[in-house]
Amino acid sequence: MFIADNIAELHRVLTVWHNQGDSIALVPTMGNLHAGHIRLVHEARKCAKRVVVSIFVNPLQFNDPTDFARYPRTFAEDQVKLASAKADLLFTPGAEEIYPPGDVTRVHVPGLSEILCGAFRPGHFIGVTTVVNKLFNMVQPDVALFGLKDFQQFTIIHRMLLDLHMPVELVGIETVRETDGLAMSSRNSLLSSDERQRAPAMYRALCAARDAVLKGEVEIAALEQRGMQALEQTGFKPEYFTLRRAADLQADDGSAHELVILAAAWLGNTRLIDNVVVSRSVD
Ligand code: PAF
Repeated sequence: MFIADNIAELHRVLTVWHNQGDSIALVPTMGNLHAGHIRLVHEARKCAKRVVVSIFVNPLQFNDPTDFARYPRTFAEDQVKLASAKADLLFTPGAEEIYPPGDVTRVHVPGLSEILCGAFRPGHFIGVTTVVNKLFNMVQPDVALFGLKDFQQFTIIHRMLLDLHMPVELVGIETVRETDGLAMSSRNSLLSSDERQRAPAMYRALCAARDAVLKGEVEIAALEQRGMQALEQTGFKPEYFTLRRAADLQADDGSAHELVILAAAWLGNTRLIDNVVVSRSVD
């Protein structure tokens, strides 16, 4: 596995591959890799000849400096995991490489970026779309893979690609879960053992809401309220528990076939998010 910590080195390797006509898949990450990320690498291998993984803890997407400082950084372990997953190139730029002196340009997908997580983390998605744009420009991948645990992030990046005519195929990969249902996340390592035991309640609440929808429940407000209560009862401080149209994350008027139930909540000092998609037949 090649390792490049700057753009010149990245391009040196990529140029050889581009000249050979090798297709390139990019898996952008912030490191602290878990089985969900490794699944992305394996799926990427099916999509392209070369797999590039980036690790960059992006300061621009952290609205809270304490959260940025606390974000787990495990570069040595990550490198070993990526080598055994047979990634071809690990790109680990420093902040000055991504945001050189004088850098001011930002990419904003308005509307979608201000709802749900965006309402609680001002500026977060501008940070995400800006850095993803920069990474796409640097790597020029044919395909990019993202986990669907960050469903809103995926929806926003999809919108950005369409709006900016970016020639990158976007692939969303199902959330990988622990055996008790907890969605794998780099933030799980920040949970105390008591919080870790409580954490799967979020997925259980989402599944209960999904089952209610499948049984024909139409009272969205009641369903959302039950979800919020279920989270509170297990010690979460919920930000939202809501059901939206999967296509655009807007409120459903009863006509959408595909819905997504999304939740974000704090357990102590750790913020967790998760979602489940539900398809229903509509007359
Ligand atoms: O999902 C993530 O890990 C990050 O938001 C991403 C896409 C790597 C951008 O920093």
